[in-house]
Amino acid sequence: MGRASLFVSLLAAANCVAAGPPAPWRGEIKKHGSVTYKCKCYSDDKCWPKGPEWASLNKTVDGVLKVAVPPGAACHKSLGQVSTYDAAKCADATAKWLDEQWLTDHPIANLWPLYTNNTCLPTTNSSEPCTQGFYGEYVIMATKKEHIKSGVDFARDHNLRLIIRNTGHDFMGRSTGYGSLIINTHSFKEATFIKKYTGPGDWTGSAATVGVGVQGRELYRQAFAQDPKVVIVGGECPTVGWAGGYIQGGGHGPLTGIYGMGADNVLSFDAITAKGEYVTANADKNPDLFWALKGGGPSTFAVLTSVTVKTFPEIPTAGTILNINSTHTNDTAVFNEAFRIFHNLSNHYTSHGMFVYFELSTGRLHIQPFVGPRMTAAQVKEVLKPLFTQLDAAKIPYDTITKEFPTFFEFYMDIFEDEQPNQNSVVGGRLFTQQDIASNGDEIAKALLFASAPTSDTMGFSVGHIVNPGHGNPVVDNAIHPTWRNASSFVITNIIMSGMESWEMKKLREDQQTNIVGKALREAGKHGATYVNEGDLNEPNWQDSYWGSNYPKLLQLRKKWDPEGVFYTQTTPGTEDWSVLDYGTKLCKKT
Ligand SMILES: Cc1cc2nc3c(=O)[nH]c(=O)nc-3n(C[C@H](O)[C@H](O)[C@H](O)COP(=O)(O)OP(=O)(O)OC[C@H]3O[C@@H](n4cnc5c(N)ncnc54)[C@H](O)[C@@H]3O)c2cc1C
Ligand SMILES: *[C@@H]1O[C@H](CO)[C@@H](O)[C@H](O)[C@H]1NC(C)=O
Ligand SMILES: *[C@@H]1O[C@H](CO)[C@@H](O)[C@H](O)[C@H]1NC(C)=O
Ligand SMILES: *[C@@H]1O[C@H](CO)[C@@H](O)[C@H](O)[C@H]1NC(C)=O
Ligand SMILES: *[C@@H]1O[C@H](CO)[C@@H](O)[C@H](O)[C@H]1NC(C)=O
Ligand SMILES: *[C@@H]1O[C@H](CO)[C@@H](O)[C@H](O)[C@H]1NC(C)=O
Ligand SMILES: *[C@@H]1O[C@H](CO)[C@@H](O)[C@H](O)[C@H]1NC(C)=O
Ligand SMILES: *[C@@H]1O[C@H](CO)[C@@H](O)[C@H](O)[C@H]1NC(C)=O
Repeated sequence: MGRASLFVSLLAAANCVAAGPPAPWRGEIKKHGSVTYKCKCYSDDKCWPKGPEWASLNKTVDGVLKVAVPPGAACHKSLGQVSTYDAAKCADATAKWLDEQWLTDHPIANLWPLYTNNTCLPTTNSSEPCTQGFYGEYVIMATKKEHIKSGVDFARDHNLRLIIRNTGHDFMGRSTGYGSLIINTHSFKEATFIKKYTGPGDWTGSAATVGVGVQGRELYRQAFAQDPKVVIVGGECPTVGWAGGYIQGGGHGPLTGIYGMGADNVLSFDAITAKGEYVTANADKNPDLFWALKGGGPSTFAVLTSVTVKTFPEIPTAGTILNINSTHTNDTAVFNEAFRIFHNLSNHYTSHGMFVYFELSTGRLHIQPFVGPRMTAAQVKEVLKPLFTQLDAAKIPYDTITKEFPTFFEFYMDIFEDEQPNQNSVVGGRLFTQQDIASNGDEIAKALLFASAPTSDTMGFSVGHIVNPGHGNPVVDNAIHPTWRNASSFVITNIIMSGMESWEMKKLREDQQTNIVGKALREAGKHGATYVNEGDLNEPNWQDSYWGSNYPKLLQLRKKWDPEGVFYTQTTPGTEDWSVLDYGTKLCKKT
């Protein structure tokens, strides 16, 4: 490697005076078997920027460039040569380790840390080593658009791996990357609301322009504070970013059954391209980019800085909580029948515009909640009657409660629960269509029950979302997989991990997710699809599975808007030739 990079830098020097052929690759050139790869620049390469270059970047970003320090570092004596121990900060990190907001506010922490490599966790033994793992090297704590542009330009010009990190709210390691320069967009918190949108496009209702750092509950709260009160299609989780990864992946949520996906409602984007240009993308300006940013994948076409979206008048909302667990039965057959009855009615719930959030593990079904937008408690109970009737007929014990609220926001605040972060699991999942639920609902339920204990030495759990954005909503032409319009249930499957497994064990668990759990899901839901924000990184035929017939156009647009591969996150359009080699470290491109 040393020799290869020396050779490359000699070539680079020679090339300074020679016009004509493209500049040689600045980075390591690797051979893996018969394949040659060109890699991004890393700190052990000659091409890595020197101290003065980092200092000059720091100057252009007004001093907000920081060394990337893992969130547990204060509990350890040192990170490399740098002393990091700080008793008070260690106590704080330990106490807040399961606090979503603390983690999202941290410059580089991840909520689902498996892909950080867990190399620097909070500990009471400060002698334990702390290393950078798969976190990056430097982070720009951007507070202005210009800081983001400077980071994109620097990463592109120096051939560095670039990570855009908003909240770190990702199951798939999409906001972390070994040896990278990170741009943190969390402080873009501004949201402005208008009563009447005047174009471009034909929407004339109310709207909001949302900074990329604004989080789910913050946005709902601000929408509720408007006069008149409004709602926005967002996720179920309080801390998930709204205008970053969520919207670029499509975005489902509690109001999707009546207003479609988050991205269906976008009116305009402000963004910075891979070339470092400020662009607006909407019905009039850059309509191809506008189309691609609505569901084409995070960190793929541009860095978003703000998103303008439709808002809707507040609505009364009611909903139900239902539990079946060891309090009610320990009989596996009874439990499984209960789940089959519940899940098999997915088409029924969605035909009333409902959204249902459920957790499933061995012997435990926790549905919190069934959401009935624009419904009273009586109306929700009426829709759920077939469920209760069938559970009663099968003599299945359960607990349930139904509540109603004058507004969606009050409902949301009361009923939705926070999720526990800093869990480690290998994630997969599938979207089941209306057609597959109707023709093969029992087999789908069986596959989901199987995912709770797929092998003798693994445990699983699933997080389900029964939702159909196609119900009663106009079909929006955007990059979201067309199969979403026929969705009935979208379920995330997890194989539980400690996060401290060997590389080989991690690969085995991934293989089990893809080829044992994933295979069962695909066979049960033949017409289904997968979701780029909550899916399997090793999904077979991921292009078709994540985007269906939209993929060829997305590939073409990726080549147009990011021809050099400044952005990267696995299984997104145009990343076919890129791989992270050497045990999850170096990002390299096949030549
Ligand atoms: C607990 C939990 C609950 C969730 N609930 C939902 C839900 O209800 N509905 C739903 O649809 N999804 C949900 N998700 C998935 C979520 O939509 C994705 O993980 C999404 O990518 C998060 O975006 P973020 O910007 O908050 O996170 P980050 O982890 O910071 O970023 C995720 C990805 O988006 C990219 N990105 C972030 N900001 C930008 C930007 N400004 N420009 C370009 N790229 C950017 C990052 O580079 C990365 O690839 C949930 C995830 C978790 C962990
Ligand atoms: C960037 O500059 C600021 C302010 O001068 C300084 O505090 C910070 O340590 C610098 N960052 C790096 C990575 O040197
Ligand atoms: C603390 O960690 C060090 C380094 O891993 C180890 O050698 C030592 O035994 C640990 N001490 C205790 C008390 O566990
Ligand atoms: C990642 O973790 C594995 C297993 O703990 C370890 O062997 C490997 O060295 C780590 N790699 C990095 C870059 O931290
Ligand atoms: C199920 O088993 C647990 C643990 O043995 C027990 O506490 C519980 O009461 C049992 N539930 C029922 C319904 O019998
Ligand atoms: C599920 O639905 C299918 C098709 O409507 C039906 O044949 C089957 O009996 C249902 N299963 C349960 C458990 O209700
Ligand atoms: C089981 O259901 C009851 C409600 O009947 C609930 O209070 C309890 O928290 C549930 N247990 C688990 C482990 O979910
Ligand atoms: C949706 O379902 C209908 C009928 O079941 C079918 O004709 C159509 O092709 C489906 N569309 C997609 C995108 O799957």
